[in-house]
Amino acid sequence: MHDKKILLKETEIPKQWYNIVPDLPHPLPPFIEKETGKPGVGIVPKIFPKAIIGQEISQERWIDIPDEVREIYKIWRPSPLYRAYRLEKALKTPAKIYYKYEGTSPAGSHKTNSSVPQAYYNMKEGITRVTTETGAGQWGSALSFAAGVFGLEATVYMVRASFDQKPYRKTMMNAFGAECVASPSNRTAAGRKILAEDPDTKGSLGIAIGEAVEDSLESEKTGKKANYTIGSVFNHVCMHQTVAGIETQKQFAMVEDYPDAIYGCIGGGSSFSGLFWPFYHDKTSKKAPKETQFFAVEPTACPKVTRGYYTYDHGDTAKLTPLVPMHTLGHDFMPAPIHAGGLRYHGIAPTISVLAQEKQISTIAVNQVDAFDSAKIFIRSEGIIPAPEAAHAIKAVCDDARKCIETNTQKTILFALTGHGFFDMTAYDEYFSGKLQPYEYPVEKVAESMDKLRKLYPWLNDVTKQYITSCKQ
Ligand SMILES: Cc1ncc(COP(=O)(O)O)c(C=O)c1O
Repeated sequence: MHDKKILLKETEIPKQWYNIVPDLPHPLPPFIEKETGKPGVGIVPKIFPKAIIGQEISQERWIDIPDEVREIYKIWRPSPLYRAYRLEKALKTPAKIYYKYEGTSPAGSHKTNSSVPQAYYNMKEGITRVTTETGAGQWGSALSFAAGVFGLEATVYMVRASFDQKPYRKTMMNAFGAECVASPSNRTAAGRKILAEDPDTKGSLGIAIGEAVEDSLESEKTGKKANYTIGSVFNHVCMHQTVAGIETQKQFAMVEDYPDAIYGCIGGGSSFSGLFWPFYHDKTSKKAPKETQFFAVEPTACPKVTRGYYTYDHGDTAKLTPLVPMHTLGHDFMPAPIHAGGLRYHGIAPTISVLAQEKQISTIAVNQVDAFDSAKIFIRSEGIIPAPEAAHAIKAVCDDARKCIETNTQKTILFALTGHGFFDMTAYDEYFSGKLQPYEYPVEKVAESMDKLRKLYPWLNDVTKQYITSCKQ
C-alpha cells in the first residue's frame, strides 16, 4: 500500500526562509513616491518594524528563521504533503497529483506562516499593538492568533462583504484575543469618507488596507504606537511562506518524485510564491531534475495579471501607500461579491509581476462556478473541503490532469491547498443551490481606472517606461 500522507519530523522545519530577489531575471523596480514621482518608500518606515523592512529590501538569498518562530511553527508544521490518489482515480487521469495542505494551521490556512514572524519582530521592537486588513478573514484570524502568542493587541479591519458572509471569522479573531471591525468603518477618515459616499458599500481589500494603515499612522499621536502588518504582496510575506515550498522539496525527495507543474491561486501572491519559489531556485541553480512549469490561478472576477496593466499603483484605495510596481486593476477596484474573498485584491506581488513579464510563470483565470465544480470533485474524492480560493487552483489542476488522459502522460502535478473552507459554508450553500454566478470583470472598467490613474499622476507613463520595461501600455 502506498502512503497517502508524506510527513516530516518537527526537526525538519526549515531553519531559513528563501528570498527569490537575488535570483530574479532582473532587479525589482523601485517603489515610487506619489508626491515626487521619484523612487522612495513613503510611509513604509513609519508602519513596519526595522527587521521587517530589512527583510523587505534584502538581497540575501537565505534568511534565518528565529528559534522562537520555529517553536510556534511546531504547532502545525511541518504540514502534510498528500498524494491525491482518490482524485486521480475520480478524474481517471494517469497524472500524479500532490497537494501541500496548509489548512492544519491554527487559523486554517497558510497565513500563519507570515503572521507569526511579523508579530514576533513587532514584539521584539517593543510594539504592543498591530493593525491589519482582512478579506476572507484568513489573514485576520492568522494575525489574531500570532498577536496573542506574543502578547500583542490586534485590530483587524475586515471587508464588509466577508464580515457579513462569515460572522464566525470575527468570533475566531475574538477568541484569539483580537478586535475585528467591519470595513469601511467610522474609525478612520478613509472609512468615514467612503461611508458618506455609499453607506451600503460592501468594502474592498484596498479600502480595508487604507484603514489599517491610517490607524497605524494616527496611533503615533496617542503615544502608543501601533504598527501595520500585511498579509500578502510584499517580499517579506512571500518569503515567510517559503517554509511550505522548502518542506515540499524534502517530501518529494522522500517519494523520489519531482513536480512537472506547480499550481497555486493568487490573491496577493504569497501562498503560491511560498510553494514555487524554492523550486524556482532549483531551476536557477541548475539543480532541478525537470523543466518545472509554474501556474498562477486568479478569478475572472479579479483578473489583475491576465487583464490588468503592469504599471505603478497604490496598494490601498486611500492612496496612503507608495506606488508599487505591479499588475493592477486600479486601486479604486470594487470587486463583485464573489466568494473567494482572499482573491479580490486589485494588485499582486511585484515579484510575480516580474516573473509573469519574463514568462517564467503563466497565469490562468477561472470563474468561481468552475472552481466550485472542481472543489466538489475534490471534496468527494479527497474528503477535505477546500477554501474557495484554493478551489481556483484545483480547477486548473483538474484541467491539466484531464489533458494528461488525452496525451497519456504521467505528469507530476503539485498544488497549494492553502486552507480549509469550514467558514465558507454560505458560499458552498449558494453553489449547491445553483445560485452562484460566474463573473468576468469588464476590461473597460480596467481601462477607466487606468485613465484616472494617469490623470492623477501625469508622469505615470514615463515612470513606468523608465522602471518597468516592455510594459503593457
Ligand atoms: C485560503 C486562502 N488562500 C489563498 C489566499 C490568497 O492570498 P495569497 O495570494 O497571498 O496567498 C487567501 C487570502 O486571503 C486565502 O485566505
